[in-house]
This record gives sequence, C-alpha cells and structure tokens, in this order.
Amino acid sequence: MVSEHAAKVLVASNRGPVSYTPREDGSLDSKRGGGGLVSGLSAVEDKVWVCAALSDGDREAVRRGVSEPGVRMLDIDASVHTDAYNGIANSVLWFVHHMLYQTPLEPVFDAEFRRQWASYEAYNRAFAEALAEEADPGSAVLVQDYHLTLVPGMLRDLRPDLRIGHFSHTPWAPVDYFRLLPDDIGEQVLRGILGADRAAFLTRRWADAFIGCCTEILGGTGGTRIGVHGLGADADFLRRRSHEADVDQRMATLREQVGAGRKTIVRVDRTELSKNIVRGLHAYRALLEERPEWRERVVHVAFAYPSRQDLAVYRDYTAEVQRVAEDINATYGTADWTPVLLHVDDDFARSLAAYRLADVALVNPIRDGMNLVAKEVPVVSDHGCALVLSREAGAYEELGDDAIVVNPYDVSATAAALHEALTLDDDERSARTGRLADAATALPPQRWFLDQLDALRG
Ligand code: G6P
Repeated sequence: MVSEHAAKVLVASNRGPVSYTPREDGSLDSKRGGGGLVSGLSAVEDKVWVCAALSDGDREAVRRGVSEPGVRMLDIDASVHTDAYNGIANSVLWFVHHMLYQTPLEPVFDAEFRRQWASYEAYNRAFAEALAEEADPGSAVLVQDYHLTLVPGMLRDLRPDLRIGHFSHTPWAPVDYFRLLPDDIGEQVLRGILGADRAAFLTRRWADAFIGCCTEILGGTGGTRIGVHGLGADADFLRRRSHEADVDQRMATLREQVGAGRKTIVRVDRTELSKNIVRGLHAYRALLEERPEWRERVVHVAFAYPSRQDLAVYRDYTAEVQRVAEDINATYGTADWTPVLLHVDDDFARSLAAYRLADVALVNPIRDGMNLVAKEVPVVSDHGCALVLSREAGAYEELGDDAIVVNPYDVSATAAALHEALTLDDDERSARTGRLADAATALPPQRWFLDQLDALRG
C-alpha cells in the first residue's frame, strides 16, 4: 500500500468494492470486486467508499451491521434503486452517452420517466447526505459516473468546504444527441456535475463533448475545471496473475478446443449493448465466407459475460449473440472444427488464458469510455497479438497508431481488418505489441487515481 496522502479521501459509486450473498446456513458470504477503481484506491490509506446495496444479500449485510472497514453501503429502498439504476442510469443516461436509441420509437419522456427521475434524485440525495456525514473538513470526495451526476451539486450545497471531483467512465454524448433529454433534465445533469470543483474524463474527446454541452446549453462550465485521465492497464498485477496455475490450466483446455495449428481471434466483453458483439460475429462470418482459405484454420474465441440481466433488452442481446454464434457453427463447422467458441459464464482466469494465446484481439465497440481489454491483451500476450480496434473506443486515442482501426458499423471493413490482422507479419506484430503494451500501461490505476487527487487538491 502506497500512502502518499494523509488526509481522508471519500469515493462514491453505485457498485462498491464488496458484495454479499446469503449462504444456506443464513450467514453472509462476502466477495471483493476488482477493476481500476479498486486498485487505484489502494494507493490511499484513510478512505471511505460509499456505495449502494445492490442485492438482497447486500441489504441484509447493512441491516446486520456487517461491513468491511472503509466501506459504507447505503440501504436505499429497493424500488427507488431499481428506478434510478435500471430505469434512469442504464436505460436513459447510458443510452444517451453511447448513442444507442432507435430514435423513431425511443426514447419516450413521459410521466413514467418523470416518476423514475424523482427516484434518481432521491438516490443521488442519499449519496450526497452520506458523504456530507462522512467527510472531515476539507476532505476530497471523488464521485463516479453517470449514476451519480447530481451528487456534486447536492453535496456542494450541504458541504461547501469539500473538494469535490466527478469522474465519467463512459463516453459523453455530443450536444446534438445529449439534447434528446428533456431540456430541464439535461440542464440538471450538467449543473449537477458542475457542482464539482473538477470534472474528469477518460479521453480528451469525451471531455470536449462535455464542454460542448455546457457551452451550448448553459453558456459555459462556470468555475469547474475539466481534466483528462486515461486509465491504463495494471501491468504488474496482470503479468503476475496471468502466470498462475489456474490460467495455465485454462490455456491447455483452450488450446485443445481450438485445435493444433489454428489461429485465434479473441474477444472478451461484458455483454453490454455498446460492445458490438453481434456485428463482430457477422464480420467473422464474412471472413469465412469471402476468404474460404481461413475455414478450419481459425477459431473465434468469444467470451461474452453477463451484464445487467434485469433489463430485457440485455437478455435479448445475449440471446442474439448466442443465436448468431450457433448459426455460424451450424453453417461452417466440420467434424473437428468449431468456428466460434462462445462462453457466457464469467471466468477471469480463462479470459487471461485467452489473452495470452490470442493471435488477434477484436475490440470493436460502437462506443466505449476506454475499453481496458484493448489495453490488457498486449500486456499479457505470449507471442504478440494484432489488435483490431474500433475508432469509437476511448483507447483509440492512445492505441490507434499500432492497431488496425475499424468503423464499428462497417462489417465488411471489419472482416477485411480481421484478415489483415491474421496475416500481419510476425516481426511487425511483435513490434506493434511492444508499443501497444507501453502505451497501455502509461497510467497505471494507482497513478491514475493519485493524479486526480493531486489535481483536485492543487
Ligand atoms: C461499465 C462502464 C462503467 C460503469 C459500469 C457499471 O463498466 O464502463 O462506466 O460504471 O459499467 O456497470 P454495472 O455492472 O454496475 O451496471
């Protein structure tokens, strides 16, 4: 643990670093989460992480007073949380920032939306109040993401003495798209974030889009400073973890499933609507169709892990991923070749195994705040890996020069990019992988977090 900062730091996010599940005997099993924020925050000692109870297990833990040091879980009414998280955050704000609406029919801003918005306000208020209670005079508070856009403004009113930062982990919508939101709601979101001393983003592009919205809609960003911190991969952790025994075991299994002498095109995603997994499969099918020389010589290893399964549109999307993968296997598969190896159950060790043996990594999101898979694969790769990368991923800003870049909507161009990636010469591929790994690890999670803290305090 690096403890460069003595004063207390508060972090607020919907999902916290720990979750609880009831065991048969009635006791609670706790599970620690991973990710950039968890490792970033390990850089500071005196901290409180305020998060929401997300499940019945979490709520039970709050009621029994079970908790981890430094974590305060809020037992927000389950229906308020569902409206705020599923209704507003994931079905409206996520859709706006990733530009996912089919606009002839959606969105519909009616009385039901207003009812859910009131829950979003109540949920943000619960966070602001808890933070106001926990903070020492002058504490730094780092508020995370689109779930909590109103918190900075609310907290500023309650505690003008605090240093407040807001960080967006998603893209930010361009102003013409942001204006889909009802005018008063759009203003409330912008003013909420501008309640912070500093609003930060993963890339310049998203920061500029936010500034654009503030300028056009409010006439400016007021006194709020805008920052960019491009979260990088955690090289030390990944290199160590990817050589543990469970990963080696999974590599052996994967190698057997792929078959000797075949190349692999690997993708690993949470099955979010923005990840473009279905078009990735269509591009792979186009590759097999248009370049039959690849049949029996390549396998698409696609890991599509569950996400937001409470939402019907996510369940339908997962089903479509499975349907298209099965269809490709039925059309092209042979006695000893399965063209697509799809897994939908989350297994981190198996993801690392796939990273290590990938010849090509396919990262083709419609839009993505950063996309850490694009950064992790080159770090972990055993023999060098060609990266096919969407220009709409935040990671494009740092990795674009050494990737094979695609327009994520263009299936034919993606198929051509896959062919180019599969045929990249060995020396070129390993030189590019080296440069990609350097760029990907420029700002490791702890530095990423401390930089934000320094900038907020400075
Ligand atoms: C993605 C986004 C983050 C967001 C998270 C929420 O990872 O990049 O910006 O906070 O989703 O995911 P959840 O599973 O909690 O809905």
